Amino acid sequence: MIVLEELDELIKTRRSVRKFQDKPVPEDLLLKALELATWAPNGGNYQPWRFLVVTKKELIHKMADAVKAKTELLASWPEAKQFGEAVERWRKTSDFFRGAPACIAILMGKYSSIADQILRARGKTDPIAGEIRSHRQLGNTSLQSVAAAVTYLLLILHYFGLATTWMAGPQQAKKEIEDLLGVPAEWDFVDLIPVGYPAEAPKVPPRKPVADVVQFFRQGPRVED
Ligand SMILES: Cc1cc2nc3c(=O)[nH]c(=O)nc-3n(C[C@H](O)[C@H](O)[C@H](O)COP(=O)(O)O)c2cc1C
Repeated sequence: MIVLEELDELIKTRRSVRKFQDKPVPEDLLLKALELATWAPNGGNYQPWRFLVVTKKELIHKMADAVKAKTELLASWPEAKQFGEAVERWRKTSDFFRGAPACIAILMGKYSSIADQILRARGKTDPIAGEIRSHRQLGNTSLQSVAAAVTYLLLILHYFGLATTWMAGPQQAKKEIEDLLGVPAEWDFVDLIPVGYPAEAPKVPPRKPVADVVQFFRQGPRVED
């Protein structure tokens, strides 16, 4: 078993890094990290994930161009004006992954639990079925499973000395990225993970004290009769 202090350090020193050295990422490290990521817990063990590893610069640039184009579109809308400086910062950073030597596109598949199948068969008319269906969609099991795998992936890449950022932002160019990577219709592009050796040491974004985010419902002392 690994030492808790080492695990604690590994978890707390992982940072979202947005500047990378111009140095290729060894494929064997990527593969090992991806293999371990597939051991993440996932709904029904459907393993609803695929990982597309892109090291071809031209392809990374095309994905970045597509994301940048969507950023410029949104930023040009009159509704963007009220967000001032934040929009200007976003315009400068949304495609930072252009400078990464590798990017992993995360695809999500579809998972139907037994509850989903019953709800589908029940149809749209039963209001209770509708309510349960909408709650299940909100907490999408496939998305939760993919997120578990990405969490593992980032941590293991960090163990190898590789830096990453989990990026959901590129979803704004979902269609363009799926076309560029030839993603089949039954899969959805959800995240992009730039990977490389770090060229910056970002400040540590503080976490809320654990007591502020945890609530116990404790068992009271046993009353002996
Ligand atoms: C689901 C998810 C989506 C994220 N999307 C982006 C993104 O699109 N662009 C970006 O620069 N960072 C993105 N991040 C990184 C967060 O900004 C970062 O994790 C957070 O600020 C905490 O910093 P740390 O990762 O260094 O601890 C994302 C993180 C998560 C978990």
